[in-house]
Amino acid sequence: MKKMIALILWIVIPVSSAVSSEKMGAPTVKAPSPHGVAGKCQVCHVEPEDSLNSWFTFTSTKKKLTLDFNEVCRQCHGLDFGHGVGKKPALNRESLPLDSSGKITCAVTCHNIHIASDDPRQSQYHLRLIGAPLCLSCHKK
Ligand code: HEC
Ligand code: HEC
Ligand code: HEC
Repeated sequence: MKKMIALILWIVIPVSSAVSSEKMGAPTVKAPSPHGVAGKCQVCHVEPEDSLNSWFTFTSTKKKLTLDFNEVCRQCHGLDFGHGVGKKPALNRESLPLDSSGKITCAVTCHNIHIASDDPRQSQYHLRLIGAPLCLSCHKK
């Protein structure tokens, strides 16, 4: 287990920024990217953009999505998108968000779709954390 994770870190992380997006669960449906594009909020959100940007909208309303935390991404991304989705981690050092039953999801556990980072890899992959700290939140060293 330990070796396997070290190996995957070794292979996947340095290569991922250079390799084509296919391995990273590139979208299977030909659709315009919703990431970082104004006006595309309702691909995921129930509320329209002006309401999402309003001071007068409750955060809980802003967070309402059209589909659950996995299906909202699977509208465009393949079924293989995301490792361990639906599983309950025994360990979660970084308090990564899980769904209401404590399971790993695409949309909020490892990804934060609205992350703003100076690290281009973190921004491209919309990652909540990058590199080892992400994996080691749930995996023992
Ligand atoms: C690809 C899907 C997706 C798109 C497109 C998207 N969002 Fe989000 N958004 C999310 C997810 C997932 C969350 C986190 C929900 C949660 O934490 O329960 C979120 C959270 C938010 C929040 C709440 C943040 C907070 O914690 O207070 C706001 C505000 C928001 N989005 C605004 C927008 C706006 C504005 C747009 C369009 C310009 C947009 N979103 C487009 C997926 C998306
Ligand atoms: C409407 C279709 C659509 C939806 C819904 C969608 N994506 Fe994407 N996603 C794309 C497209 C197209 C790209 C490639 C272009 C880009 O990076 O903007 C992409 C790129 C990505 C990438 C970068 C992959 C790479 O190889 O560069 C990640 C990570 C990602 N999406 C995560 C998510 C997550 C997490 C969700 C759910 C919250 C989600 N996506 C929902 C269409 C979508
Ligand atoms: C939110 C918690 C969480 C994060 C973050 C996480 N994992 Fe996992 N991972 C799990 C769970 C839970 C399993 C399923 C373990 C099981 O079924 O015994 C798993 C399984 C795996 C497996 C399969 C091991 C096996 O026994 O089949 C590998 C390999 C793996 N993870 C690597 C990674 C890597 C690499 C990262 C970072 C990019 C990562 N994980 C991030 C929770 C997590």
